[in-house]
Amino acid sequence: MHYWIEGGFPLRGNVKCQGAKNSAVQLLAASLLTRELVILENVPAIEDIVSMIDLLRSLGSQVEFDQKRHRVCIENAGPIHPHIQNPQASALRASLSLVGPLLAREGETSIPFPGGCNIGSRPIDLHLKGFGVLGADALLEHGRIIAKARSLQGKRIYLDYPSVGATANLMMASSLARGETILENAAEEPEIVDLANMLKKMGAKIRGAGTKMLQIRGVQWLKGVRHHVIPDRIEGGTYLVAAAITRGKLSLQDSIPQHLEPLLVKLQEAGATIDVNGNKVKVFVSGRLRAFDIKTMPYPGFPTDLQNQMTILMTLAEGTSLVTETVFENRFLLTSELRKMGADIRTEGHGALITGVDHLTGARVTAPNLRGGASLVLAALSAQGVSEVHDIQHIDRGYEKMEEKLEQVGAKIQRIELKGSKDANP
Ligand code: UD1
Repeated sequence: MHYWIEGGFPLRGNVKCQGAKNSAVQLLAASLLTRELVILENVPAIEDIVSMIDLLRSLGSQVEFDQKRHRVCIENAGPIHPHIQNPQASALRASLSLVGPLLAREGETSIPFPGGCNIGSRPIDLHLKGFGVLGADALLEHGRIIAKARSLQGKRIYLDYPSVGATANLMMASSLARGETILENAAEEPEIVDLANMLKKMGAKIRGAGTKMLQIRGVQWLKGVRHHVIPDRIEGGTYLVAAAITRGKLSLQDSIPQHLEPLLVKLQEAGATIDVNGNKVKVFVSGRLRAFDIKTMPYPGFPTDLQNQMTILMTLAEGTSLVTETVFENRFLLTSELRKMGADIRTEGHGALITGVDHLTGARVTAPNLRGGASLVLAALSAQGVSEVHDIQHIDRGYEKMEEKLEQVGAKIQRIELKGSKDANP
């Protein structure tokens, strides 16, 4: 399965932001913390959500996913099996977020070591250490995470790094622990705030979400909830970059512009015009963009999940740009593919030096992972001639109907599902 893309058409029009993948997967996991009905709205119809729902069903959850309405109804009233055998779990990083809720609810769990994108070694030590502080025996054995606790006791936990996944897992587990947990150096990402907001509606006592210190007072039980997932700043951001790179004019609807601030500042630095009005962000580019630098960091720093997209922009910007990747070590896997399209890019360790070229040329390229794949689509949209982007199942994990959204704003893009395909330019 691949995308056939003819580049060179500026994107013009409106695009709606989907619900946030990284929020929705955590919220699905959090549904295990109550026996009552949980209704999630604005859930994106993407493969990672489908996989997460399959996993929940394999544990005994009753889940209905209305993909058209983007609504998920979950009931965990019956028995829940806390040991995950499903091989799908090892392919999905978000399966790790089931450990906290299962430990809190069932007192034990085991799951295959989670995979996800090939963007780095992705250790889980912070999760295990945190569960240990709360009184659990948590370890990695024969490729499985095993955790057990007679009861969880609230404690002070200091995270060596503000890990998003560890913050979410420990927040969920300590919501049902005895006493108070203080989570220091916690992640401040909007998706963490979204999770805290849902847990609070369920009756959890959480303060400080969105800051470096979370205070969680454990309660005995949590109730059902109806919750609307926040917009996906990474998906929305990807379309803004797509518009900038094709020198188009695009309005992103249903977004939270504040969450996009690190991106918007950089787009402006590159020479794009940005206009924010309520939940809409407009981007407009007329001339050639200028070189700029980015360094990825935990929120509110520049997000690693938008680094590859901005790298594409840099390949066409005038001058030399520097990318410093501090979060995941393997985020430069797309560079060999970009070189096939004529990009001038050199990588060393955590850095990439990119000298803007006059144009990229269509080529046959392969998506290395989710964000890398989406970024190659952007490169193809801006390139002269035809490109094929292969292995787009990576993109389907996180982007709902990417080709439809892009087509609506003027892109020439087709999903090719059959073996025979149109020829790409050299
Ligand atoms: C989440 C996002 C992912 C995003 C990342 C950083 C989901 C499903 N995925 O991933 O899209 O790129 O945040 O914004 O929400 N680390 C450790 N030990 C641990 C845990 C993490 O050393 O126990 C390190 C990681 O290797 C990485 C850094 O911490 O270098 C950040 O990882 P983390 O914030 O945990 O990312 P994820 O939750 O996996």
